[in-house]
Amino acid sequence: MGHQGDCFLVPGPVRMSEACLQAMATPAITARGTEFRDVMADLNSGLRTAFNLTPSSRERGTESWSGEDGYKVIAVSGSGTAAMEMVIANRFRPNDRVLVPTNGKFGERVADICKQYCQIKHIAYEWGRSFDLMELEEQLGRGTFEALLICHNETSSGITQDAAALAQMCQEYNVAFILDGITSVGGLPVHPALWNAEAVVMGAQKCTAGPSGIAAIAINEHFVERVHTIRQQGDSNPVYYLDLVSAIKKGDDDQTPWTPAINLAMGWAASLRELEDEGLENRWNRCAHLASGVRALFSDLGFMLLADGGQQSDTVTAIMYPEGIDDSWRNKLKRDYQTQVIGAQDHLKGKMFRIGSMGTTSVEEMIEGCKRMIDCFREMGHELPNVDVASYFA
Ligand SMILES: Cc1ncc(COP(=O)(O)O)c(C=O)c1O
Repeated sequence: MGHQGDCFLVPGPVRMSEACLQAMATPAITARGTEFRDVMADLNSGLRTAFNLTPSSRERGTESWSGEDGYKVIAVSGSGTAAMEMVIANRFRPNDRVLVPTNGKFGERVADICKQYCQIKHIAYEWGRSFDLMELEEQLGRGTFEALLICHNETSSGITQDAAALAQMCQEYNVAFILDGITSVGGLPVHPALWNAEAVVMGAQKCTAGPSGIAAIAINEHFVERVHTIRQQGDSNPVYYLDLVSAIKKGDDDQTPWTPAINLAMGWAASLRELEDEGLENRWNRCAHLASGVRALFSDLGFMLLADGGQQSDTVTAIMYPEGIDDSWRNKLKRDYQTQVIGAQDHLKGKMFRIGSMGTTSVEEMIEGCKRMIDCFREMGHELPNVDVASYFA
């Protein structure tokens, strides 16, 4: 049977499962007792799976945040931006220089956060255009940068960066590699250890279908060492709530420095168990299957995709509106077809829409949603060829 009811096809926050919602409906527990430490251990173990790190036990008191690969995961009470700020504020000294290439809104946000805490060279490519790797290599070769920071999967323009190539450059020039993986971790292949990434950030409400308002970071040993050294030398940036040294102190004991987002942590742990049940690679493959169907379908229908070919994202597809259509289409789609996609940001507002293919979205929901999108375009007078929508997702 096909999908019934609303189609919710946005690139996060995505729909939460019954198990996640039920877990969040747990009555209050204390922030310091064994019950919460049980939750943290469960959450940490699930986070390690999502980050594609070596496994850890779900049991309290077993340092479930760490693993053989030397990475530690830390849950952050706050959205993805808080976690990204935590990484940047703690890792760099005010005089450190970092390189930040961008091709969309969220990369620009990484650049903006860096401006608060260190010296930055921002190379802004057009939204959706691939980075010029030769230019970046030339920059890194100058030997003046402490780190390269990227938004791995640029949700605003639907492009995924070539992280493997960038990682290799970082290794060659001995530069730290840090990724905003907020819409990649759990939905696209991310290999922190293989890429020798110092830090990767994820947000719960995206590919892992958890609640909004909680996020996590994965950091390696070198990152931890640098944070401690900078702190000891006394030339660190000011931090308080987002102090990583305090968070690291508490981590071994399945604790957090401040009262954590307890019920969000419970919900997220449940979502991550579902990710484990599906299997990380299976989830990557499902996202890829959904996105490749969307790309082929809308291309055949005559639409233009914003992102450069070969790097189009498998968790979000950015599609230009045809002549004569604007966001009134999206409003109608929501009102008359009970189907939600998202619009564009900044200078592309009203010029394109974005379809999410992350979290637990099923093939059936995507097929139904795409049929409704086509019907809605036609109802607004935009002629489209006849296509067999389901065949694009076979
Ligand atoms: C790639 C990326 N980075 C950062 C963010 C910001 O995350 P949050 O809204 O959780 O702070 C988003 C949100 O859409 C995103 O997609």
